[in-house]
Amino acid sequence: ERQRRIRNFSIVAHIDHGKSTLADRILELTDTVSKREMQDQLLDSMDLERERGITIKLNAVELHYHADDGETYIFHLIDTPGHVDFSYEVSRSLAACEGAVLVVDAAQGVEAQTLANVYLAIDDDLEIVPVINKIDLPSAQPEVVRQQIEDVIGIDASGAVLASAKQGIGIKEILEKIVHQVPAPTGDLTAPLKALIFDSIYDDYRGVVLSIRVVDGTVKPGDRIKLMNGQTEYEVTEVGVNSPKPLKRDLLMAGDVGYLTASIKDIQDTRVGDTVTLAANPADKALVGYRVMNPMVYSGLYPTDNAKYNDLREALEKLKLNDAALEFEPETSQALGFGFRCGFLGLLHMDVVQERLEREFNMDLITTAPTVTYDVELTDGKHIKVSNPSELPESSQIKQINEPFVKATIMVPNDYVGAVMELCQRKRGQFVTMNYLDDYRVDVIYQMPLAEIIFDFFDRLKSSTRGYASLDYEVSGQQPSDLVKIDILLNTKKIDALSFITHRQTAQQRGREITNKLKKIIPRQNFEIPIQAAIGAKIIARTNIKAYRKDVTSRIHTGDPDRRAKLLEKQKRGKKRMKSVGNVVVPQEAFMAILKTD
Ligand code: GTP
Repeated sequence: ERQRRIRNFSIVAHIDHGKSTLADRILELTDTVSKREMQDQLLDSMDLERERGITIKLNAVELHYHADDGETYIFHLIDTPGHVDFSYEVSRSLAACEGAVLVVDAAQGVEAQTLANVYLAIDDDLEIVPVINKIDLPSAQPEVVRQQIEDVIGIDASGAVLASAKQGIGIKEILEKIVHQVPAPTGDLTAPLKALIFDSIYDDYRGVVLSIRVVDGTVKPGDRIKLMNGQTEYEVTEVGVNSPKPLKRDLLMAGDVGYLTASIKDIQDTRVGDTVTLAANPADKALVGYRVMNPMVYSGLYPTDNAKYNDLREALEKLKLNDAALEFEPETSQALGFGFRCGFLGLLHMDVVQERLEREFNMDLITTAPTVTYDVELTDGKHIKVSNPSELPESSQIKQINEPFVKATIMVPNDYVGAVMELCQRKRGQFVTMNYLDDYRVDVIYQMPLAEIIFDFFDRLKSSTRGYASLDYEVSGQQPSDLVKIDILLNTKKIDALSFITHRQTAQQRGREITNKLKKIIPRQNFEIPIQAAIGAKIIARTNIKAYRKDVTSRIHTGDPDRRAKLLEKQKRGKKRMKSVGNVVVPQEAFMAILKTD
């Protein structure tokens, strides 16, 4: 009976099209939170999310909707992130749903990433409820967008709801569509328990808290459960739903989405995508888990204070618990000491992890410039993987270096096709094809080295298309390229953490750019510091940081106490992110200098 009234759905949208705002309106309209409690963008609970206005982690909220047919429906709204780096999390949340509300901005239209996410939902056989949002904007073109949804995505959009999440228009209509279009779950209440873990967090008091979608059977406190892939057993201590605060329940049954705690202390024991069943009456087959996502971007993370190495490891372990895509392994650098080489899905993922380590775990980190993984064929025929440039063997031992390529799909208005193609060519792209989506939009498809996408591509794409382009990419394989490693020497000492790999054609120019940039970033000291860029033993660029003059230092001993305090404070803050490398003090920015040219 209960199952008939359950609707499990996600909201799928391109970043900024208004998913969080719509979620807030839905919570309001269903009185899940009172107006007074209503905090904008309630679902985005991590501080970081609220600040950046992006959704990163999944959240599942239970709400009750009194529909026009007189019945009360139980909705589970599962949030999904909108950014290209996080599409694996989208697939996680979709697996827990029967339907997806597709939000498309009435002024922006369908964007490349919307497509990727919507196809994930269609592949999962989810019922799609299209919503055209922001119809209040003067630039809104709801009918054009409706046609676009049909042409580009290929779903019927005749019934698409015209909405303004901001002004609360069309919200009730969306909820009615969910009731009538999204199917109720059809799990078997009497079958052995089968529940999908789609997220997990670590709580200091309760241990590991699992977010689960119960597919078959029921689960309640006192049950002995088994994680099918891990083969570990626990006793359930609590089950409940988030509404949005945790609310204890006597049991969760087929169709429900909620949380479960079982005094699981070891964070290594749970895997998102695993199936929970009962130890005494297990299901015979586990649910299909998630595709394993492979990191595409690597960077070194080092504590500024070497004594914090173990703290960093513990923090990374905790983050990995609900971020299966995060990889890390110990690494040592002559320049930076002990740290970790970490693998990320993309640059935003990297940023988010670094920022969470700093904020939630109070770590002060030095991070090295991101790099891709190269497949290096040695002269003896062996292949090795290199994701740390300083580990690239001598050129005499290398037969060939292969680098990861991606198929990049860039969606742009007609007018910008030229600009996009020029940029892609400059970034060593190989033109594949171009598809006209409608009268004014084009999909431009290129094969591009992933390394070039990491290096400044997105910003340039945005600026050369006035923000109109959207990018989506998927790994398409390895290709041989004429690549070289550039080493940076400070005061004639090679700094391993500053080495990078680049194309031979641009090597000279990059070497010059980077030495000049480092010259600006690294503070003057009381001796002259030569900065050199080298390929092997050959110096390709050099410059000097002059020693400072006496009067510059004496100015710090200024008489004004206010000004003095400010200066000291500034120095202290600055110092946090510095690392002494040999006898040269190098600020954090220097390690990222490789990333940007300007
Ligand atoms: P992510 O969480 O990063 O995926 O973004 P989102 O899709 O959740 O977008 P969000 O709800 O944060 O909205 C993005 C911006 O659009 C915010 O500044 C909203 O205030 C604005 N916005 C959302 N809905 C509407 C709408 O109906 N009309 C107008 N004019 N602005 C809206």
